[in-house]
Amino acid sequence: MASIILYCRPGFEKECGAEIQEKAAWNEVYGYLELKKNQGLVYFHLNVAEEGDKLLSEMPLRRLIFARQWFLSVVEKLDLPDYNRVEAITEALGTDWQYADLRMEMTDTNDGKELSKFCRKLAVPLRQALRKSGALTEKGDNDGAILHALFLSGNEVILGYSYAHNSSAHVMGIPRLKFPNAAPSRSTLKLDEAFLYFIPRDEWDERLTSGLKAVDLGSAPGGWTYQLVRRGMMVTAIDNGPMAESLMETGQVKHKMMDGFKYTPMKQNNYWLVCDMIEKPQRVAKLMAEWLLKGYCKEAMFNLKLPMKGRYQQVNEDLQTMKDMFSHYNVKYELFAKHLYYDREEITVHARLLSPLPVID
Ligand SMILES: C[S@@+](CC[C@H](N)C(=O)[O-])C[C@H]1O[C@@H](n2cnc3c(N)ncnc32)[C@H](O)[C@@H]1O
Repeated sequence: MASIILYCRPGFEKECGAEIQEKAAWNEVYGYLELKKNQGLVYFHLNVAEEGDKLLSEMPLRRLIFARQWFLSVVEKLDLPDYNRVEAITEALGTDWQYADLRMEMTDTNDGKELSKFCRKLAVPLRQALRKSGALTEKGDNDGAILHALFLSGNEVILGYSYAHNSSAHVMGIPRLKFPNAAPSRSTLKLDEAFLYFIPRDEWDERLTSGLKAVDLGSAPGGWTYQLVRRGMMVTAIDNGPMAESLMETGQVKHKMMDGFKYTPMKQNNYWLVCDMIEKPQRVAKLMAEWLLKGYCKEAMFNLKLPMKGRYQQVNEDLQTMKDMFSHYNVKYELFAKHLYYDREEITVHARLLSPLPVID
């Protein structure tokens, strides 16, 4: 049996499972789900094992909202002895395939955290042994296959691979970001991660550079504004709540105490619209599409809050609202959504238009 193993935020296994099952079916790949509740793990057991590789290489991981990372199993649940674990793993892998890198992984849970020390210790001799056997290539190859060793305990591991070009570059799909002490709220990490995830690094000089103008809806106390300010942008911050003094002192922030749904910019000179208002997601999605269609901003990065129940369905409806609005005006667009590591009960969405502005009556 072959399975695609997906990592998500613990508690979101149902959404992650529903999504892989639906999107795999669009590619005519079928299987059944095994959800590891509150462990952030989903197994999608494939009806036809050979179809796993095609799905893994051809269906963009970026299209999955709830999955942080994925891989295709090669060795399902290898029982490890108390000694000679390195030998057992090396033997189980054989030498038929070569991998460009090794990821030692565990679940994003307290049990997983306990295992991380054990994994770190095992990584060095395992890497060496795999290099010697030829399973691991000498140097990291960015286009190659990544070997994932998912440790469920010290005595149980799942081995598999993902393709570097279609998987997260981070172990378990989790970027570890440092909280900047000068930021006024922890929310700052959400926008930091969003820029890292959605905007390719070689485009930062153009799309995330100093001098750009930005609007931040629902800005207080200023964690998101901080990310814009530190990149040298000029920010209009909209919130009835107070903004951190330290941000106002930079001279880069104009604060307007008003409703984010009522604010309209005077000029079409804003590049970014960011929005973290705790509001109904349908309302926010509609507002974001309107800003883009009216040319009030070039790119939008925003959060959509998730309901307690029917989360996957709600997300699809919110995104569909935006797609319908873009289609109505016949514009090409880019629209990606992800449940990022620093997101909790919300997802992050990035949207921009790729064709000239429509004429809106
Ligand atoms: C999660 S907090 C934003 C945190 C902020 N992004 C940060 O990093 O510090 C949500 C904010 O949205 C604001 N908000 C909610 N509804 C709003 C509305 N209709 N107009 C303006 N602000 C709104 C609230 O006042 C609150 O400050």
